[in-house]
Amino acid sequence: MFNIILFGPPGSGKGTQSEKLIAKYGLIHLSTGDLLRKEIAAATPLGLEAKSLMDKGQLVPDAVVVGMISSALTANPNANGFLFDGFPRTQAQAEALDKLLDLNKTAINAVLFLQVNEEELIKRLIKRAETSGRSDDANPEIQRKRQDVYKKETLPVAEYYQQFKKVVEISGEGSVDEIFDRLCTQIDSRLGK
Ligand code: AP5
Repeated sequence: MFNIILFGPPGSGKGTQSEKLIAKYGLIHLSTGDLLRKEIAAATPLGLEAKSLMDKGQLVPDAVVVGMISSALTANPNANGFLFDGFPRTQAQAEALDKLLDLNKTAINAVLFLQVNEEELIKRLIKRAETSGRSDDANPEIQRKRQDVYKKETLPVAEYYQQFKKVVEISGEGSVDEIFDRLCTQIDSRLGK
């Protein structure tokens, strides 16, 4: 099994690159943001609880997202591997993920960390707001809040994985194809290609 975390701030291109990577490498895409938006669309109790936090740019509780990831891992025992997008977002989530993977006799192979300057991030999110229909895109204040939450709560996750030498910093600026090539080079070298 080959497992990657695609890491980076809101707007860094995790979703965009995930689609291309899962198509090329046959991985299962696990985006906690997408899973939560499905719960919201289905108006489940979990979705309703999550919506109020997401609309404020805050994180939903660790137990909720870890539970979703645990179910997805169990539902895909024969996967080639997983691409985690937007998860883990706190050190507690990272530790829980390591335990879950360990139970399945697998581990994270690499944390690919997309680096994009904040001005460019906000520019991308403002543009996406024109078409995404995402309530957390619509308000510039919430976009700023999401960047702040990222810096305070999520950036420490990169430090957590750095101690295991799993983090690879990759420029997330340039064209989508250029960034994809950079990601593939790193993945291929770990796959021995
Ligand atoms: P989530 O859905 O994960 O959103 P996010 O991390 O804020 O990431 P985004 O989807 O905003 O950005 P992205 O990096 O995927 O970029 P994209 O490819 O779309 O989370 C939403 C909320 O859910 C959170 O705020 C939180 O409340 C909750 N949540 C989710 N996971 C959680 C967890 N684990 N724990 C707790 N709470 C959780 O690209 C952005 C835009 O830029 C697009 O329009 C794209 O077309 C464009 N673009 C992409 N690449 C380029 C490029 N190279 N050049 C120009 N434009 C580009």
